[in-house]
Amino acid sequence: MKGATRLIFPLILLLLCEVNGQRRSRPPKKRPTPPPSEPVEPTELPPPLPPGPPSVFPDCPRECFCPPDFPSALYCDSRNLRKVPFIPSRIHYVYLQNNFIDKISEESFKNATELRWINLDNNRIGSIDSRVLEKLDSLIFLYLERNHLKEIPGYLPPSLEQLRLSRNRINRIPDNVFNKLDHLILLDLHHNELNDADFKKNTFRGLKNLMQLNLAHNRLHKMPPGVPKAVHQLFLDENQIDNVPNNYFKDFPNLAFLRLSYNKLSDKGLPRNSFNLTNLLVLHLAHNNLSSIPYISQKLEHLYLNDNSIEKINGTQICPTSLISFQEPSSDLDNVPRLRYLRLDGNNLKPPIPLDLMMCFRLLQSVVF
Ligand SMILES: *[C@@H]1O[C@H](CO)[C@@H](O)[C@H](O)[C@H]1NC(C)=O
Ligand SMILES: *[C@@H]1O[C@H](CO)[C@@H](O)[C@H](O)[C@H]1NC(C)=O
Ligand SMILES: *[C@@H]1O[C@H](CO)[C@@H](O)[C@H](O)[C@H]1NC(C)=O
Ligand SMILES: *[C@@H]1O[C@H](CO)[C@@H](O)[C@H](O)[C@H]1NC(C)=O
Repeated sequence: MKGATRLIFPLILLLLCEVNGQRRSRPPKKRPTPPPSEPVEPTELPPPLPPGPPSVFPDCPRECFCPPDFPSALYCDSRNLRKVPFIPSRIHYVYLQNNFIDKISEESFKNATELRWINLDNNRIGSIDSRVLEKLDSLIFLYLERNHLKEIPGYLPPSLEQLRLSRNRINRIPDNVFNKLDHLILLDLHHNELNDADFKKNTFRGLKNLMQLNLAHNRLHKMPPGVPKAVHQLFLDENQIDNVPNNYFKDFPNLAFLRLSYNKLSDKGLPRNSFNLTNLLVLHLAHNNLSSIPYISQKLEHLYLNDNSIEKINGTQICPTSLISFQEPSSDLDNVPRLRYLRLDGNNLKPPIPLDLMMCFRLLQSVVF
């Protein structure tokens, strides 16, 4: 158990950092040069590494490492493995990332009924036998980033809390695949080949507790329907979205982080009140084609509007609270808009920054103009 706490603690930290990372102001960044095309497949895979020294655990697979002080963990990562070794029943955490595994056999997982955490990132898995997953009824984390999956695996265990499937080739979401996953907190599908037809009204049904949904870098032209209402973080950047339906975000009481940068939004497709949401803290709208600034709520802290087509800005109009109230000596700080970081560079604005903007957003620490 001591081992388990040790492992889970950094994870919580990691999650916190992710959230904090999004709140911290970032220095202005140029769009990175496009990533190099996919590496060419080597014709010959490197041979599996030779087995390590004998383990204190007689059931430890020879190609893996079984830490003596952490009997529930099995490290088989970065060993040039072609298949998953037999996983002993005492194992809760198995690390199989950075190998050349292309198939998951039922046999390997036959006794591993206590598994809580499987990391298979960066392998060559194209599909997973449903009989493997459905038996893992303690599984909490399933990491399958950077594989060759074409669809979301079926029969995912209802215990699952995090499902990471980014950087695959997923272009299909089987019906009802998320139906029973009411413990799922994080669903990461970024950098796949999903398009509008993959998302139906019921696609996300069942994800009652989902907090983070990442659909960035796919092939969406429309906002996906049926996004779970509980989400705190919704990432849709790097798609082709040109339109946000009226009231799309109306019933998202928790939404705090929203990313829609690198899409095709213009004023025409965007009701001006779309993002005037009570709990929104961070809004990314950079690299679109907006001409005016959408209305924001008093609580918003970070707004990215760089690289759009904004030509003028009227601080009085976009101010979420009435300007006049601040001029009264009794005005209390509770009503001051919370905006601290604003990016407007890469538009058609000319300095100086309008005075009414500064008078409204008195907590602004940084404006990139
Ligand atoms: C799998 O578990 C069964 C029942 O606990 C046990 O008898 C068997 O030896 C295990 N198999 C292996 C290969 O460890
Ligand atoms: C933003 O929403 C609030 C609360 O719903 C509302 O009072 C306010 O008028 C809205 N702002 C604009 C500019 O529509
Ligand atoms: C951006 O929007 C303007 C009209 O507001 C339009 O004339 C222009 O073609 C659009 N640019 C792109 C790249 O879509
Ligand atoms: C900004 O908008 C307000 C209210 O709509 C208007 O009274 C004011 O003249 C505008 N300011 C400029 C500089 O256009």
